[in-house]
Amino acid sequence: MKIAVTGKGGSGKTTVSGALCRHLARRGTEVVAIDADPNPNLGVSLGMPPESVENLQPILNALLASGHTHDDPTPDPEDLLSRFGVPAAEGVVLVATGKIERPTDACLCCGSHTTTRSFFGDLRTDGRTAVADLEAGLNDLLWAAPGPDDVVLVVAESSAKSLEVARRAGQMADELGVRRVVGVCNRSAGEGDMVRLAQALPGCEVVAVPEDAAVERASHLGRAPYDLDPASPAMAAVASLAERLIAPA
Ligand SMILES: Nc1ncnc2c1ncn2[C@@H]1O[C@H](COP(=O)(O)OP(=O)(O)OP(=O)(O)O)[C@@H](O)[C@H]1O
Ligand SMILES: [Mg+2]
Repeated sequence: MKIAVTGKGGSGKTTVSGALCRHLARRGTEVVAIDADPNPNLGVSLGMPPESVENLQPILNALLASGHTHDDPTPDPEDLLSRFGVPAAEGVVLVATGKIERPTDACLCCGSHTTTRSFFGDLRTDGRTAVADLEAGLNDLLWAAPGPDDVVLVVAESSAKSLEVARRAGQMADELGVRRVVGVCNRSAGEGDMVRLAQALPGCEVVAVPEDAAVERASHLGRAPYDLDPASPAMAAVASLAERLIAPA
């Protein structure tokens, strides 16, 4: 299964992605965590030490440093995974597609998008689950180009702006032919928030992830909320989401 996690900036995509990967891996699934944000920080939400996150070699940066040009085809995903994937807790393998590090004439973010497309699109998933934490907004969803058998998680807070981005993400996923779009009502304060997200994503499943002080605490400490308290309300909600995603149809 491939899961693309999208939504407005700051809506909670990385928090949800990290906890989802950890829970799936803990219950025995082989998980590839794809950090598709050119400002990657999924490693933190997976529980990697800050220095390991800092030292992570993103695919595109490593390829460009070794003479690869934007016009060259991206190498085979299995090869990239074995070269650039790093182990995280519970056996999750983390790979980042590209990172903006210093001023350059070339548009690193464009290359990063194409790397995401080919890596997410071509990665083999038999027996494994890939979770792609996408860059904020809708552009990266277009680039990741999830297909009919993939899952799109649309993470939204209760603000009108967040819900509007969610609405457009749902429409876009629909136009891409994605059959399963799940709205994640993050920092949910109750039924009203769920109803508003359900209205933005007609016909889609919607799940709630509550506002959680333990997540905020983990964020300040630079730690994974899953490590701080895997049973906290938000982590428990993401665990139920994971179970729902892998439950037989
Ligand atoms: N359920 C929650 N309860 C409390 N705080 C939360 C919750 N979900 C996310 N947060 C906090 O909201 C902030 C943004 O979360 P996160 O980084 O996951 O968002 P994002 O969508 O990945 O952001 P970006 O668009 O910058 O990549 C973080 O400080 C995180 O700790
Ligand atoms: Mg993020």
